[in-house]
Amino acid sequence: MCGIVGYVGDSDAVPFLLEGLGRLEYRGYDSAGAAVLNHGKIEIRKAVGHVSSLVEEIKSHPVSGTSGISHTRWATHGGVTLENAHPHRDASGKLALVHNGVVENHKDLRTELESRGHVFASQTDTEVISRLIGEAFDGHGDKSRDGLVEAAREALQQVRGTYAIGVLHEDLGDFLLAARRGSPLALGLGDGGQFLASDPAAIAGWASNFVYLNEGEIAWLDGKKFEVAGIDGSAPAPVVVRSMEKAAKAGTKGKFEHFMQKEIHEQPESLREAMRGRLIADQGTACFHGIERSPEELRQWETLIFTGCGTSFNAALAGEYIIEFLSRVPVECEIASEFRYRNSPLEMGTAVFALSQSGETADTLAAMREIKRRGAPTFGICNNPFSTISRESDGGIDLRAGQEVGVAATKSFTSQVLVLTMLGLMLGRMRDLRHTEGKKILSALEKLPDLVAETLEVDEVVRRIAKKYAASESFLFLGRQANFPVALEGALKLKEISYISTCAHPSAELKHGVIALVNESTPSIFIAPRDELFEKNLSNIEEVKARNGPVIAVGTQGDDVLADLCDDVVLVPACEDFLTPILTVLPLQLLAYHIGVELGCDVDKPRNLAKSVTVE
Ligand code: F6R
Repeated sequence: MCGIVGYVGDSDAVPFLLEGLGRLEYRGYDSAGAAVLNHGKIEIRKAVGHVSSLVEEIKSHPVSGTSGISHTRWATHGGVTLENAHPHRDASGKLALVHNGVVENHKDLRTELESRGHVFASQTDTEVISRLIGEAFDGHGDKSRDGLVEAAREALQQVRGTYAIGVLHEDLGDFLLAARRGSPLALGLGDGGQFLASDPAAIAGWASNFVYLNEGEIAWLDGKKFEVAGIDGSAPAPVVVRSMEKAAKAGTKGKFEHFMQKEIHEQPESLREAMRGRLIADQGTACFHGIERSPEELRQWETLIFTGCGTSFNAALAGEYIIEFLSRVPVECEIASEFRYRNSPLEMGTAVFALSQSGETADTLAAMREIKRRGAPTFGICNNPFSTISRESDGGIDLRAGQEVGVAATKSFTSQVLVLTMLGLMLGRMRDLRHTEGKKILSALEKLPDLVAETLEVDEVVRRIAKKYAASESFLFLGRQANFPVALEGALKLKEISYISTCAHPSAELKHGVIALVNESTPSIFIAPRDELFEKNLSNIEEVKARNGPVIAVGTQGDDVLADLCDDVVLVPACEDFLTPILTVLPLQLLAYHIGVELGCDVDKPRNLAKSVTVE
């Protein structure tokens, strides 16, 4: 959460700062700000709202200079106000700082600083860092760039919590300081200048190479060179310079109105990419370069634990059903924010997979680190192979879904479920899944992208259904087996995009309490494909209809029973039972999208959300 961009070099920093921030809006969009060194003085511009408001502010009050730092905020401490927008100054006013993360001991530090005469200008936790660094710098005899590095080290040793920071000081010319603990930060290296960015995608096209800062590292840079060291004075890890070409490129909407819409329609392609080179036709199995373990080692995996948050957790849950069905390997799914603090037993023979589109989610990363500390093998399933989870895990699987800009996860969900299905196939083929069965599954997988494309043709049908029900105040989502996680995902999509209250349950849970919510104005959405539990779902639908509840069903093409019974039906092509979640979720993504549009919501940037949740 929160995005940082910095620039130092030969050109005007402002265009880089503004465009870079625009590319980072997925990390937060409550307010934005920039500090630019203009003829030896730091000038700050801030605006509440999206980065476009900051662009307008700078148009009205122009500023330029060859170094600067900028920030797009997702509020944690302190309301969404101009004072709380970053950058924040120190007591002298000569230092400006941007921050992504949370200072856990900010209250104590604030009290100490106040007792030394500091008067805070904001309610943020961040301002304690700018003030601490400024105070240490001003207290030092050394007013050089090295002096600022020393001051930052001294100050950061007092800070508990997470941070990625960018710092500019008006006495030190074109010079930026950066540090990282818990929140991501990269240095971008270009010919005419150098950059700081929370995500290399923010500076794609400008920097040719980039370097990720590692945990606990501090860096300082001018337009030509950079240095990295441990905050605590320790030697840094060897610097790995990566080519910018491999970083995800910032996307455009193309012919679509919204990124979410585009990303929903990209799924045939993203699923093809997820399978490319990973299916071994003659052996009827799958393989992943990121999980290079001998068959003997893989056979020793007796239990898998999947951990993640939000949509990634829902995908994990679908994976649990599918993998247990295909391979008979027991799977447990754990919500990362709970798992990280639970004293859960970790048997030998357990492999842990951290699922995260961004690869930066704070809770998922922390859960993975805790497991790694306990000695179990950890794997990341991420959409960014350079993300912190990908880099810190023992191996993993790249989702290859392409950059997902819409805050609501769509194509990453189907790629996660597909990758887990392939993992199930691989593990199954090492156990009891026969060659012929493996080949059958493989050929079903190969057909999947075309079935997804066919399913997406329901777009217009779903748009009409969305119009009909958009005014409803709440929705129920119900499904069984691997389509129960689809119900969870459909409910999550709808609530985050349209702010409508939703809940999701296994269909059979209806009569254990949920049915009390059924009335004439609360639609129930049943995910009821023609699988082995179809009849059971039908009975549950009857129960809702008997109480006059409107029912929208997602079923299988050719199904007229549902059409007779339900108020509205969306049909998806027939496929193997274990593949249905990848098809049935599509009408639910479309429904959330169209209801959001119908209600005039900002579907790509829903209120209060951010795409990359890098705080706990
Ligand atoms: C829902 C959504 C969130 C994320 C969650 C985890 O549409 O986007 O629920 O799924 O914040 O994010 P990642 O997958 O990046 O770890």
